[in-house]
Amino acid sequence: MSDCNRPIGILDSGIGGYSVARQVRQLLPGEDLLYFGDGAHVPYGNYSAEHIVQLARYMFRFLEARGVKALLVACNTISCLLDRCRDGVSCPVFSAVEAGARAAARMEAERVGVISTVFTHNSRCYPEKILALSPRKKVVLSCGCPDLARLVEHSLGSPDGMARVEENLRLELDGMVRRDKIECCVLGCTHYPLVRESIQRLYPGLPLIDPAEEMAAGLRDDLERRGLSAPAGRRGGLTIYTTGDVDEYALRARQVGLEPVDQVAFYPPLEV
Ligand code: DGL
Repeated sequence: MSDCNRPIGILDSGIGGYSVARQVRQLLPGEDLLYFGDGAHVPYGNYSAEHIVQLARYMFRFLEARGVKALLVACNTISCLLDRCRDGVSCPVFSAVEAGARAAARMEAERVGVISTVFTHNSRCYPEKILALSPRKKVVLSCGCPDLARLVEHSLGSPDGMARVEENLRLELDGMVRRDKIECCVLGCTHYPLVRESIQRLYPGLPLIDPAEEMAAGLRDDLERRGLSAPAGRRGGLTIYTTGDVDEYALRARQVGLEPVDQVAFYPPLEV
């Protein structure tokens, strides 16, 4: 296969990375995308670092073995541990946290909120990176959401499920928005942009930062620089692998507008 025609790898603990795949498709419609979601083990955000590294390496190896020309870590939680996960990966690797922090640092706002998983919150990855790029900012963190990614993963399209998502969003975001008066909010877990409309309805006027936009733009620049962009006029495909429920992954892809999908296939989970 010519180097230009090699796929882009995208990985996440679950369907959260669909928010990144969607953005990449919009910006780079000619690229083939190979998605891996670890449905058997989602959510990662309440696990220990060792456990996350072990699970993430399995996905990195899967995508590396399929010759991806770039790898998007469409999971903030794994991105916090990138140096421990990327061993043996020969292509450029893009981090959701790097992208989100860069986008936040560019905002005029001084008080930046970050909503994320418990692991991402505890790692302090976001404030460290944002403050390194923009020292005058005041970064305000959510307390780390133990339930939100799991709720989003299984609730799209269900009125009861979405009511629970919105109740959880209020629990996690009300303090930052109303008491701490954040001026913008980083969606620091890739599941959250999938419910962006709900967040906007609950907090109208609050600017939201989705790291996916920055990731897709960074990928485009990298491919152009290396002369590896897919040929113009080509229509890219999307193949999804999951260690979880194939039918649910296909349904969720349709629900978030990720169509057409060439194939959704099962891949055995890492036994831990
Ligand atoms: N979507 C992931 C993230 O960006 C992980 C959510 C989870 O598995 O807890 O952090």
